Amino acid sequence: MSVKILAISGGSKNGTNDQMAKEALMGAQETGAEIEFIHMLDLNLVPCNGCISCVTGKDGIFAGGSGRCIRKDDLNWLEDKIYDSDGVIFVMPIFEKGVPGFFRAFQDRFAGPNHDVGMLTIAKDIHEKSGKVEGGPDPRAFKKRFATFIGIGGSDWACRMSADFGLFAMVQQWQVVDDLVFTWAKSLTMEDDRVATIREAGRNIAKAAMDPSNYKYLGDPGICANCHSRLMYLTDDAETVECSVCGIKGELVIEDGKIKFAYPPEQLEHAHNTLPGKIKHVEDIGKNEGAFAAAKQTEEYRRRADAYKAFIQPSKPEK
Ligand SMILES: Cc1cc2nc3c(=O)[nH]c(=O)nc-3n(C[C@H](O)[C@H](O)[C@H](O)COP(=O)(O)O)c2cc1C
Repeated sequence: MSVKILAISGGSKNGTNDQMAKEALMGAQETGAEIEFIHMLDLNLVPCNGCISCVTGKDGIFAGGSGRCIRKDDLNWLEDKIYDSDGVIFVMPIFEKGVPGFFRAFQDRFAGPNHDVGMLTIAKDIHEKSGKVEGGPDPRAFKKRFATFIGIGGSDWACRMSADFGLFAMVQQWQVVDDLVFTWAKSLTMEDDRVATIREAGRNIAKAAMDPSNYKYLGDPGICANCHSRLMYLTDDAETVECSVCGIKGELVIEDGKIKFAYPPEQLEHAHNTLPGKIKHVEDIGKNEGAFAAAKQTEEYRRRADAYKAFIQPSKPEK
């Protein structure tokens, strides 16, 4: 079966991230995949400005539309590249312990509401019920696509990297094959063992795409049995712990001298990486948006909004 594997690097031009993205692509190619390489910083990707046209606009989710972003830059080009691939290898430098800011900006637009499988499922449903033939969400958005994440750091400040990638992955329900974080990796290119692991990761994602029914997660098992995260948030009562990635709540217990995350099975019903969990989240958002839309129609809201608007104007540089 012919598959296409794309690698997206966010490092400096021809630096370690680019080199390791190519190393992984060599592995994918020798397994028989067609390959393509994208250097993320070649693209013009503006940040999400929170207009939520993708949700509430004419072509938005709640109108049964495509939810495509209306900002004019290279996002839709990149979306096409990703949608036309079977698997993507994301190779990103570690900045401030996690993904770099430009990847977060991309995440807001590519792993925000308009790419959430729950949102898109609702949009598809609305579109089908409308009886329209044209429009609706892009069918390619629903395809099970594979991802491998590689984080490369210049030190050992890396504890948010895998969680950042995990959160990105669960929105579109990517099937993650490998999740690799390399610390003290400035000279990675010279380290044969770690380079071989990256070549193997390239082979792994190509094999997964060629044989989807035998897909297996090959990354670190982590602490959360549901999503493999190791990043836990201690909630206000300091008794409950929330998995920072999939959002399920439980407690930390010690078993055989090891920390374990224990949670009641019903927590899985609203885990952010499951379709029922996503649908519930969209329904909650829908109710909240409805209440907000009603508040905005009132005189009192207009009075308050006008008062803030008139109070002070933002300073900005002369153009
Ligand atoms: C703004 C900035 C923040 C960084 N923060 C971290 C960090 O928190 N942890 C870490 O291990 N490396 C950090 N680094 C090092 C980069 O991860 C490293 O320079 C990069 O992976 C090198 O890849 P390249 O050769 O592809 O550019 C940081 C680098 C920059 C520029």
